[in-house]
Amino acid sequence: MLLVMPVRSPFSRKEHSLQHVLRSLCTALLVSSAASAVDLNGLTAIGPLASYTKSADGITITCADQSQVRFQVLAADLIRVRASLGHGLPARDHSWAIAKTSWDVPRWILQEEPNDLVLTTDELELVVHRSPVLVEFRDAATHHVINSDARPMAYDPKSGTVAAAKKLGLEEHFYGLGEKAARLDKRRGQFTMWNSDTPGYHEGTDPIYQDIPFYLGWQDGVAYGIFLDNSFRTNFDFGANLDGYTAFSAEGGEMNYYFFWGPSIKKILGRYADLTGRMPMPPKWALGNQQSRWSYFPDTLAEQIVSRYRAEDLPLDVLHLDIHYMNGYRVFTWSPQRFPDPSGFTAKLRKEGVKVVVIVDPGVKYQSPVPGATDPTSNPELAPQDQSYYIFNQGLANDYFLKRKNGQLWIGEVWPGKAVFTDYTMEAAATWWGDALRAYTDHGVAGIWNDMNEPSDFIDQTGKTQMDIITYDGGAYTPYAENRNVFALNMARATYEGLMRLRPDQRPYIITRAAYAGIQRYSTMWTGDNTATWDTLALSIPMYETLGLSGEPFVGGDIGGFIGRTNGELMSRWYELGFLTPFCRNHAEITAYDHEPWRFGSYYEGIIRKYLKLRYRLLPFLYNELEEAHRTGVPIFRPLLLNYQNDYNTISIDDEFMVGADLLAAPVLRPAETRRLVYLPEGTWFDFWTGGQFKGGTTIQADAPLETIPLFVHAGAIIPMGPEMNYVGEKTGPLTFNIYPGAQGRVDLSLYEDDGVSQGYLNGTVRRTTVSYQATAAGAEIHVSAPAGSYQPGRRTLIFSVRLAPAAKEVLLDGHPLPSVRSGQTAPGWSKSGDSLCIQFDDNGQERIVQIR
Ligand code: GLC
Repeated sequence: MLLVMPVRSPFSRKEHSLQHVLRSLCTALLVSSAASAVDLNGLTAIGPLASYTKSADGITITCADQSQVRFQVLAADLIRVRASLGHGLPARDHSWAIAKTSWDVPRWILQEEPNDLVLTTDELELVVHRSPVLVEFRDAATHHVINSDARPMAYDPKSGTVAAAKKLGLEEHFYGLGEKAARLDKRRGQFTMWNSDTPGYHEGTDPIYQDIPFYLGWQDGVAYGIFLDNSFRTNFDFGANLDGYTAFSAEGGEMNYYFFWGPSIKKILGRYADLTGRMPMPPKWALGNQQSRWSYFPDTLAEQIVSRYRAEDLPLDVLHLDIHYMNGYRVFTWSPQRFPDPSGFTAKLRKEGVKVVVIVDPGVKYQSPVPGATDPTSNPELAPQDQSYYIFNQGLANDYFLKRKNGQLWIGEVWPGKAVFTDYTMEAAATWWGDALRAYTDHGVAGIWNDMNEPSDFIDQTGKTQMDIITYDGGAYTPYAENRNVFALNMARATYEGLMRLRPDQRPYIITRAAYAGIQRYSTMWTGDNTATWDTLALSIPMYETLGLSGEPFVGGDIGGFIGRTNGELMSRWYELGFLTPFCRNHAEITAYDHEPWRFGSYYEGIIRKYLKLRYRLLPFLYNELEEAHRTGVPIFRPLLLNYQNDYNTISIDDEFMVGADLLAAPVLRPAETRRLVYLPEGTWFDFWTGGQFKGGTTIQADAPLETIPLFVHAGAIIPMGPEMNYVGEKTGPLTFNIYPGAQGRVDLSLYEDDGVSQGYLNGTVRRTTVSYQATAAGAEIHVSAPAGSYQPGRRTLIFSVRLAPAAKEVLLDGHPLPSVRSGQTAPGWSKSGDSLCIQFDDNGQERIVQIR
């Protein structure tokens, strides 16, 4: 495809590349300046305990130097440590990350000992040593130490830095911290939290776009979590400085952290979701295949991309419009030349089953109206904008844009040139922004892609010259140093709440590049401007795994690589990984070569088609996992460690991953490789492709020709699958349950379904079906429960495909014999193929019992 630019963009291709070089340079500066360790020497330690008070939910100690520390019991396994260093705790206690502020206080007791105060819940024992003040967390059942201070909390009265240091275990390993261009196990690493636009990042670039200051510590199978809820620039040191401790610090604010006790990682993730909120169910089509590039225009070219998808028999659900759909990069507008009829355009795509997502950047073009010019009252988004730009005018008139301390507007520079930024911490401004999304929803746009929201500013990517910006922050007028990291979170909140007002019964679909803890309440995410290299492909696994362990279940990256030139082999391997990520989108930079699935010829396209089709067949499985993530906070895309927490072999495996509890994938991550080593944890594993079996607890050699990603299913699993489809919702059935019997003889699955688009799932318009398979003396029995919930999925056939089925002479459905049919036949009945048994009948929405004997 040739990118024809009918209207000259403010930046030529060359200028765009220059922008990228500049941005990369800024990134280099940013990264080198940010890589500061947590230097505890030179900080002032808090004084010894002078007095303390007890309240219904915990204790507050006052130290000799006036520092105050409050230990608040939120749950038996969750204690908050909130410390104000050098002075007393302020009355204001607010965080944009926290979803739950009121807890039912569990029972706890306090023992006042000469040297210690010991606060005990049913699960945790918190020991506060009086002099010096040292905090230790122990398992209430065994009294084993889980985590303890290496030194007292400390601070710098001049700069406002606050720090805590914890003893480092010999075999203690660390996970989390959100979006990090690093391996899974973060031991011996150090990391900074400062949302940063870092195009072309690579392993070691730190920080990058998102920051979630929440991590898990693991030792001998036992895990705890620490969430440092401080949105200033923070630093984490997991033993990088070989000083025998781990440390975390913030360049301002309080030493405010939450301590989560497992020992199970899944339990910690559930609690973290209680505290910071759950991911609402995205629309089901968000799991569909998505196509993007910077940028598809005009409308006819975007339509051709969709037609080509259909012509090539490739499934597609979403087309993204990048910045060129706008009128001169002005957000909330449409280019009259490129997209003259946006409603007609989205309607055309909708007929093909394709939804449109548009990019929305926070930078609002700085543009004073020419004297006398006015904005139209209806559909201002379609107006010419060159004389007067309604969004800038409205924002300015209402004082919604961020200002410096001296009262002047902060004017940065992004795609439209000079730009101003909304103060999303101001409720009226956030509401205005959310309401302005009607410029898209009125024209049938289905989802919003929030980009450049670190926020990126080409003048200064470090943010250093922006430190005098003041945010309203609920009337507290807090400095940017505290609020830059929550800018994207608040932009996502404004977007989510706006979409909820505009389309109350539909599920918002939002994608974000930058974030802070709590982002999962509003948005899904992608990993920004990656590169078309094998290294980046490999790095994406620990990145997605880490995001999942940081409370963000809906993740993915630009398939094929955003920057640089990909090739057919890399593309094929990328899809072999990407078809299993929640967010599955092919995207490319403006100067990159086109890399839609058909761009490398039919051989590679065939491979990509195979995996996209398989993804659609796996939708019932993926959707089930998505609902689990919504309900429990446990991610879809998992490191092996999450499912096998006691298996030491898994602590650093990040070239494999699991989807849910039972599907293990080991993509090829290097060119020209056709075999690879795969570690399989305990149990028996089925090769997804051949049905062959492997004993786990060992490493095997797996064949991986270019067409094949090694995929394994754990024995004892049921993987539900649907039909091949062009787009989500195109067909209702058949629904296939692939049963992989395990040693215990019993296999269960609870299948979740709903309409995939509305908010009805919150009021019980769902359907839950339990399928269990049980080996019996006579053969086996399959039990399908009467579905619970009021959602009706429509007519469909149910198929049960049993691996290693017992030798069957007859199959009874609800006591009546089912006919034996030829393998592959689509009529009700049963058939054998190899050692698999296939049973098929219509779903009548009732309880069903199948006997195999
Ligand atoms: C940023 C985004 C990228 C987008 C580009 C142009 O680099 O990360 O995805 O294509 O801006 O909008």
